[in-house]
Amino acid sequence: MAYRSLTSRVGSAPHRLTRRFLFIFTLSLSCTYLCYSLIFCCDHIMEGRGYEDRSCLLVQDAGSKKLLQKSPACTLSVLAKEIQPQAISPAPEGKERRPSEEGWSNQNLSTRAGPVRTTPKTTDQELKFNNNTTTPKLGSKRLPQAIIVGVKKGGTRAVLEFIRVHPDVRAMGTEPHFFDRNFDKGLDWYRSLMPRTFDSQITIEKTPSYFVTREAPQRIFSMCRKMKVIVVVRNPVTRAISDYTQTLSKKPDIPSFEELAFRNRSAGLVDTSWNAVRIGMYALHLDLWLQYFPISQMHFVSGERLITDPAGEMGKIQDFLGIKRVITDKHFYFNKTKGFPCLKKTENSFLPRCLGKSKGRTHVQIEQEVIDDLRDFYRPYNIKFYETVGQDFRWE
Ligand SMILES: *[C@@H]1O[C@H](CO)[C@@H](O)[C@H](O)[C@H]1NC(C)=O
Ligand SMILES: *[C@@H]1O[C@H](CO)[C@@H](O)[C@H](O)[C@H]1NC(C)=O
Ligand SMILES: *[C@@H]1O[C@H](CO)[C@@H](O)[C@H](O)[C@H]1NC(C)=O
Ligand SMILES: *[C@@H]1O[C@H](CO)[C@@H](O)[C@H](O)[C@H]1NC(C)=O
Ligand SMILES: *[C@@H]1O[C@H](CO)[C@@H](O)[C@H](O)[C@H]1NC(C)=O
Repeated sequence: MAYRSLTSRVGSAPHRLTRRFLFIFTLSLSCTYLCYSLIFCCDHIMEGRGYEDRSCLLVQDAGSKKLLQKSPACTLSVLAKEIQPQAISPAPEGKERRPSEEGWSNQNLSTRAGPVRTTPKTTDQELKFNNNTTTPKLGSKRLPQAIIVGVKKGGTRAVLEFIRVHPDVRAMGTEPHFFDRNFDKGLDWYRSLMPRTFDSQITIEKTPSYFVTREAPQRIFSMCRKMKVIVVVRNPVTRAISDYTQTLSKKPDIPSFEELAFRNRSAGLVDTSWNAVRIGMYALHLDLWLQYFPISQMHFVSGERLITDPAGEMGKIQDFLGIKRVITDKHFYFNKTKGFPCLKKTENSFLPRCLGKSKGRTHVQIEQEVIDDLRDFYRPYNIKFYETVGQDFRWE
């Protein structure tokens, strides 16, 4: 259009005026576009400093359609804004441009999120902290799109070790305890712990205490409402005994299992304030999660089947994460001495990996009567749990 108005200079005066006007109009449009591009670019830099969840931003990129389908989109983080309130002000127009498509809008989150302690930081510190969040060659650190939230002694370590064999999954090796103990440290801290990933990869972490942490569902939801939540569950009675066995190995002086499990043994009154008992009341904890996440966004792994049929359980997890079924029977062998499946040697691991030394240690002997009483105690919770999840774990 500009070209035409420039070349066709011959014509009547009014026409020339119209053309000149058109030319100026086009020019101003281009200028506006350029300015917006620049502002948007700046915005990206701001985001790069970690005010918002990068994994969400990446989902937005045209080239990342694959990721959008494969992995959950995240919300722009309200928590991040609350943690660093002053950090948002340099991007005053950011709010208007924030996408509000499904999975992104979270206007009412702040009311739900409750009070969040602010930890002011200087811009310099933040820049330093996020210096390396994007290195094209190595991928970038992203907030997780899937979390193994529990349960303790359920087999979470095994699931993490098995799933990280998948080339599209990168996992944190240790437990960050962000949504329970370290929440004050902020999302930048959390992100800095994550392994580098490419667009096609899913970042995953596991912290088994999240499942029984009151604040965890709401905090995770605020960070990423599309989070995929994985829960590894196991017969609550065996879980409690396993939990006690672990504690006993560290503190040999603690009272017997029976003493801790019951408030009044003869009355069969179970002490639900004891953590080893409380964790196994899955239905109660699950209720809190379902206030935020739809059941379809949660996946429940049977800790028992994970041992008898690891490939089967891993297949379901891979389906849930929307990744190809790469981990199959070929990856496992069963160590009869240990009674546990092990991972075979792969390109990703130099040694065959079995569960750690502490896993599968022999449980303390507990009277059958005590076990029966606990089983009775858990039955209603188990039944409610099966109904909610729509899956029979056969713990009876
Ligand atoms: C936010 O919450 C208020 C009341 O708490 C409600 O009236 C409003 O519809 C909510 N908005 C959204 C977008 O959910
Ligand atoms: C951050 O990156 C810049 C440029 O790459 C570099 O000059 C600076 O030293 C880096 N800061 C830190 C803390 O590494
Ligand atoms: C940033 O990444 C480069 C590798 O690309 C590394 O050499 C450097 O130490 C990193 N800097 C920081 C501050 O992590
Ligand atoms: C335990 O329960 C029994 C039977 O209900 C009762 O007689 C006894 O007083 C209770 N003991 C304690 C310490 O509460
Ligand atoms: C099986 O487990 C036992 C006991 O932990 C260990 O000593 C042995 O090396 C394992 N065997 C294989 C083939 O992994």
